[in-house]
Amino acid sequence: MADTLPPFDPHNPEYFETGLPFDLLADLREQGPVAKTPLGYYLTRRQEADELLYAVDAYGSDMTPGTGLGGVEEVPQEQLFLPEIDEPVHGQIRRLYNSALGPHRTMRIQPFVRETCEALLDALAGDDPVDLHADYAVPIPCEVIAHIIGLPEGGADKLKVWSSDGSVMFRAVCPQYAPDGPPITGYLKDLVAQERLADEPSSHTYKVFLDAEIEGGPLSDTVIAHQLQTMVLGGVHTTRGLLAHSMHRLIVEPDTWAALEADRELIPVFVEESLRHDSPAPRVARRCLRDTTLGGVEMQQGDWVEVGLASANRDEAHYDDPEDFRLDRPDPLNHVAFGAGAHVCPGASLARLEGVTAINTLLDRVATLTPLDGFEYPPLPANLAYSDLPTHITWR
Ligand code: HEM
Repeated sequence: MADTLPPFDPHNPEYFETGLPFDLLADLREQGPVAKTPLGYYLTRRQEADELLYAVDAYGSDMTPGTGLGGVEEVPQEQLFLPEIDEPVHGQIRRLYNSALGPHRTMRIQPFVRETCEALLDALAGDDPVDLHADYAVPIPCEVIAHIIGLPEGGADKLKVWSSDGSVMFRAVCPQYAPDGPPITGYLKDLVAQERLADEPSSHTYKVFLDAEIEGGPLSDTVIAHQLQTMVLGGVHTTRGLLAHSMHRLIVEPDTWAALEADRELIPVFVEESLRHDSPAPRVARRCLRDTTLGGVEMQQGDWVEVGLASANRDEAHYDDPEDFRLDRPDPLNHVAFGAGAHVCPGASLARLEGVTAINTLLDRVATLTPLDGFEYPPLPANLAYSDLPTHITWR
C-alpha cells in the first residue's frame, strides 16, 4: 500500500522561498488522506489529522525533525521539551503551563501587550518606510514571553537572537551544542537558580515551576530551564508567523484593512481565519507507538507520521471555498492551527491576544498602509521567517 501512495516532501527547502505548495496539497488531498515522505508519512486531510491528534496511545509526539538531534538516540530526561515527555508526567507539567499561560493569566497581561505594541509603533513614527516584520511582528512575542517568564532587562532581545538563529531548538545532547547546550539553556538555568534562592520568585511563572511537585519531588533547575525554553521555542516563532502573515495581508489587501477599520469586532475573526488559512505551524510530527492503521495505510511501530495542519485547515471536505480568506465563516474557530488533543497549544489564548492587540493598536495609530513600490512581497502565506515587510505608513 505504502508503495502506491503519492510522494510529498514537506521539508523541501524550496518551500522556504515559495511558501507551501497549496495546489499540490489540494491534489494530494484528492488522491487520499496519506502521502509518502522521505521520513515516513504525511496526513493531508482534516479527519485523519483529528484521529491522530486525539490517539495519544498510538502516536507519540516527537520533535526530532526540528531539533537537530543528529543521530542521538536518547535525550536525557532532564533535557526533554514538554511535548516529548511521556504521560502521566506530561499531563502534570502541562498543568504548570496552563497556570502560566491560560486565559486567566492572559487577561491580566493585556495592558502589557497593548503598551508593548504602542511603544513599538511610537518608535517607528516618521516618514520613512518601516519594516512591520522585523520591527513589529518579531519583537512583540519576544517582549511578551520575556515578561511572562520574568526575564531581566535585555531578555527579550536575547530571545529575538536565539529564535532567529534557531539555537532555541537545540540542547546539550545535540552534537553541535555539547556539552553545555545552546546559550538560552545556560541563561535560563542561571536565572532559575537565582530565583530558587530568592525569598519570593519574581514572577508567577517561576513560582509555579519552583513550587511544583512532580512524581513526589521538585523539578530541577535543568528541567525548569528546558520547560521555559519550550515556552520560547513554542511561542516566539509561531506567534511571529501569525503576526507577520496578518501584517502582510493588511499591507497588500486594502479592502481587508478597511473592513477591520469599519468593524473592529471582525479582528478576532480575521485572526482565526489567518490561523486557518495561513497556519503558522504548518505540520507537527508523531512516531507510531505500535503497529496501527490510519487512512487505510498500515503503519509500523516507530514509523514517522507528520500531520499537515496547514493542509487539514484547507480540506475541501471540511470548509467551503477553503482556499479563500473569508471573514464570514460560520465557525471561525473550527481549525487545527493550534493542534488538538493532549498536546493542543497551551499558548493559544496568549497568541490570540497578541494578534488581536497588535492589529487593534495598528488601527488606532495608522490611517493607511501602502506597499513599497518595486518591492516584491512574497506569496501569502510564505515562510516569513526571513522576509521583510516594508511599508509606507500614514500615521493618524
Ligand atoms: C500563533 C501562535 C501559535 C501557534 C500557531 C501554535 C501552534 C501549536 C501547535 C500546532 C501545537 C501542537 C504541537 C503538537 O501537537 O505536536 C502547539 C503546542 C505547544 N505550544 Fe503553541 N502555538 C502558538 C503559540 C504559542 C505560545 C504563545 C506559546 C507559549 C508561550 C506556545 C507554547 C506551546 C507549547 C509549550 C506546546 C507544547 C504542548 C504540549 O506538548 O503539551 N505556543 N502549539
